[in-house]
Amino acid sequence: MRPEPPRLTEAAAERTDEEICRMASNGIKMTGMPAFGEHHPPDEIAAITAFVGALPWLTVDDYSRLTGCVQEPSERAPTRAAVEASEEPSRVSDSRSE
Ligand code: HEM
Repeated sequence: MRPEPPRLTEAAAERTDEEICRMASNGIKMTGMPAFGEHHPPDEIAAITAFVGALPWLTVDDYSRLTGCVQEPSERAPTRAAVEASEEPSRVSDSRSE
């Protein structure tokens, strides 16, 4: 999909609640971002806005509690910090093995 959907955990930190609300409700023209306001009432758009606005600061445990989606640590997607921490050593070992 072009443009690609952003990582909301990062993009939301750059947006005000008002912007997030408007984009969630109206969608974004010429992109795949749908207008959820066409099918969701204002209270649901407000809940989506609050959730997305908080996303950049949620811990894995916060996320599990809010969504009711409890995962074993081994099933969890790695956090961005964990991916970044693991990138350097693996790049080094990749280049050594070539
Ligand atoms: C509850 C579900 C969703 C929410 C709350 C949401 C929210 C947002 C927000 C806030 C942005 C703007 C990010 C920025 O600051 O750049 C955005 C962008 C975008 N979203 Fe969504 N989105 C949702 C679902 C989807 C879905 C299902 C798709 C497509 C299958 C999609 C496609 C996109 C795309 C392509 C953009 C980037 C547009 C651009 O580059 O300007 N989104 N979304």
